[in-house]
Amino acid sequence: AKVILAYSGGLDTSCILKWLLDKKYEVICYMANVGQDEDFDVARNKALKIGASKVVIDDLRETFVQDYVWPAIQAGLLYESRYLLGTSLARPCITVGLVKCAKENNAQYISHGATGKGNDQVRFELSCYSLWPEVKIIAPWRIPEFTEKFQGRQDLLKYASENGIPVSVTPKAPWSMDANLMHISYESGILENPENEPPSDLYQMTKDPKEAPNETYPIEINFKAGLPVYLKTRENKIINKPLEIFEFLNSIGGEYGIGRIDIVENRFIGLKSRGVYETPGGYILHAAHTDLEVFCLDKEVYRVKQNLRDRLSDYVYNGFWFSPEGQYVSKCISLAEETVNGTVKVKLYKGNVFIVGRSSDISLYNQDLVSMDKHAHFTPADATGFINIQALRLKEYHRFQQQVQKQ
Ligand code: ARG
Ligand code: SIN
Repeated sequence: AKVILAYSGGLDTSCILKWLLDKKYEVICYMANVGQDEDFDVARNKALKIGASKVVIDDLRETFVQDYVWPAIQAGLLYESRYLLGTSLARPCITVGLVKCAKENNAQYISHGATGKGNDQVRFELSCYSLWPEVKIIAPWRIPEFTEKFQGRQDLLKYASENGIPVSVTPKAPWSMDANLMHISYESGILENPENEPPSDLYQMTKDPKEAPNETYPIEINFKAGLPVYLKTRENKIINKPLEIFEFLNSIGGEYGIGRIDIVENRFIGLKSRGVYETPGGYILHAAHTDLEVFCLDKEVYRVKQNLRDRLSDYVYNGFWFSPEGQYVSKCISLAEETVNGTVKVKLYKGNVFIVGRSSDISLYNQDLVSMDKHAHFTPADATGFINIQALRLKEYHRFQQQVQKQ
């Protein structure tokens, strides 16, 4: 039988590859390029040397930005108020490629190297089952025969040397990473103790804010229907292709130390885990978009939309990208976003994104109405009645409280 293995080129998936071959599967390795810093040729040769019948390298960078990151920015997705969902968004995108590859190659099985305690196994598999209900999944990290054989890294290294699997000479970082265009995540290893500060040499996308330039960097970002359309750099250069916009913001954001977070989050399966993330471009876009949203949207629509955003953030985190509820909620949010059009001026400075202005042709902001210098069609005396009625409930409540205290 034929298996498509989501292959990373690392030790774990290389051992899984060999183990599947020992089990008499034919294995095709699938590598998605979602913008991680990886030598795909080296990985290809490694997989072929171990015995893969084929290696498919799939450049998904454009679809990742346009079909996953952009809608996430539009919806303002944020998990537990802090995490911009870099890994969560990449999983369904990679799964589309995996399933397509499996169908093209007439494979019946999909295999991955996600562990049994994490979110990624759930995301991969729920996405697989959604796109291809008949698929069969092989998750070695949940198969007792596999986990008994490989109790830890030492067992993997031993198996690798016994089976001629090349092992990278650079020592492994004492944490686990997941990298794509949107972010790098760091978890486990020495980070497992949530009290320990991440070492300064951990970060790969961003400079330490204290080493960032001693000046501000201005950018203008234009949105239409809540989606980034173009940006203007300090040098007045216009960038308007999604992938280029995002790459530019990653590099300038990285230079200015933007988008680092250190959090403890709730995994779907019910445990808490500590994660460190750097998301420079995503952080800038999120900040700019949030500003424009409040500027353009009706107050109550904004509030309903924020509730939906929290729901959708959970759905995406939990692996329900291709779910009926996910599709429904993202449609509702895009409807609200139809009027989020305009330009936001930001200044980057030492880890911060300062919003310094915004403009829109269709904002509900009315300068005449809000002005301290004009009455416009507003009657100040009306506010007296407004306050009296608002105060009614408060007066009754506190009158009652005072009576209770006297007793
Ligand atoms: N905790 C993050 C999330 O669930 C990052 C997961 C990183 N995955 C990995 N295979 N290292 O989205
Ligand atoms: C893993 O368990 O494979 C990584 C962490 C996660 O999926 O949450």
